[in-house]
Amino acid sequence: MKSMPSILSAPKKETVPDWNRWYAARAGRLRSSAIRELLKVISQPGMISFAGGMPAPESFPLSAFREACEKVLAREGPAALQYSATEGYGPLREFVAGSLRTKGIPCQVENVLMTSGSQQALDLIGKVFVDGSRPACVERPTYLGALQAWDSYAAEYITVPLDDEGIVLEGVPELLERSRPRFMYVLPNFHNPAGVSLSLARRRRLVEILASAECFLLEDDPYAELCFEGGMLPPLASLMPERTLYLGTFSKILAPGIRLGYVAGPQEVIRKLVQAKQGVDLHTSTFDQMVACEVGRMGILPAHIGTVRDIYRERCAAMLTAMESHFPDAVRRTRPKGGLFLWATLPEPLDSVELLSQAIAAGVAYVPGPSFYPPGMDEARRHLRLNFSYCGPERIEEGIRRLGAVFTRAMQ
Ligand SMILES: Cc1ncc(COP(=O)(O)O)c(C=O)c1O
Repeated sequence: MKSMPSILSAPKKETVPDWNRWYAARAGRLRSSAIRELLKVISQPGMISFAGGMPAPESFPLSAFREACEKVLAREGPAALQYSATEGYGPLREFVAGSLRTKGIPCQVENVLMTSGSQQALDLIGKVFVDGSRPACVERPTYLGALQAWDSYAAEYITVPLDDEGIVLEGVPELLERSRPRFMYVLPNFHNPAGVSLSLARRRRLVEILASAECFLLEDDPYAELCFEGGMLPPLASLMPERTLYLGTFSKILAPGIRLGYVAGPQEVIRKLVQAKQGVDLHTSTFDQMVACEVGRMGILPAHIGTVRDIYRERCAAMLTAMESHFPDAVRRTRPKGGLFLWATLPEPLDSVELLSQAIAAGVAYVPGPSFYPPGMDEARRHLRLNFSYCGPERIEEGIRRLGAVFTRAMQ
């Protein structure tokens, strides 16, 4: 009698298949954000983190949100929980357009697309404007979330350096002429990560340069309102509206968890970005947009932003003062007048990537420079980004003391 095949002798099935063979080729370009990876380590008890970019949680206007949620549900009923237009909630778009007009940017409702955080706007711009055929021109360093978004669209980069007044413009006309980027990505106010702002004279000169270049300007401006020293400078979009896409967000002036940002620009580009967004998430949360709009209408924003500025002014000062006491003189740092970040530069041959494990062992975390550069730039390893918005002054002092000890030991 023929024996039945035993289940034990059946060909062995792969229990955990190798998913790599099924990924699209472009998935090979996806990288984890260094910060998301670091966040896993820094949740350890006792760790002082200067790594994230988180606003001060005690600043979130909880009672205004509670009141706004109730009002929205009572007034809008089921519409607050329904699908809605890709472009965004009309009254919130009007609110955004109005606030941009007060900054001198000509803007109507049709010029605004609401997005799920300005991070999504960066991704949509990647979808519409980035491929390997023409590069993107970015600052050196630049916002790591932009690099992360555009890498998956096969981005090629050219870079321009920064100094204490923002982008260094010498040689930029020739670079743009030679490399023909599609756009130039600029963070004019309280740069993430560099903490510097583009001076007025350089804003004017940059606009002159771009007027005769074959590219547009992408202005990313999440921190404009968070100036705690000196006044606000005109956005580049107010100087060159017809060629600029302007990105803004509610993350830093209200709360990042509601994931509300926007892109403002010429109507034809907004229509194209709407098409791109339809394939991503149909629209940004109806309820969150209505609630944010309601909070805006309560008129609490100016006072709230004032409170946030006061908190960050104090924390930034605490960090700079602690650095005076604990950092070796040879470690240079920027002196931000707003925003959330400070940028430090180590003397040769110190390396911010190598020193991170020692810093973490000492109970303090930062983000090393290479996250903010396209790959392969050696200068990146001398820098690091420190966030001053999240920890209170005492923890800042203690964290900088720990970090100073790591740098001093490394220099010896
Ligand atoms: C320069 C810059 N752009 C965009 C973003 C994304 O912000 P969100 O998606 O929360 O609006 C951030 C967040 O830190 C940022 O620093």
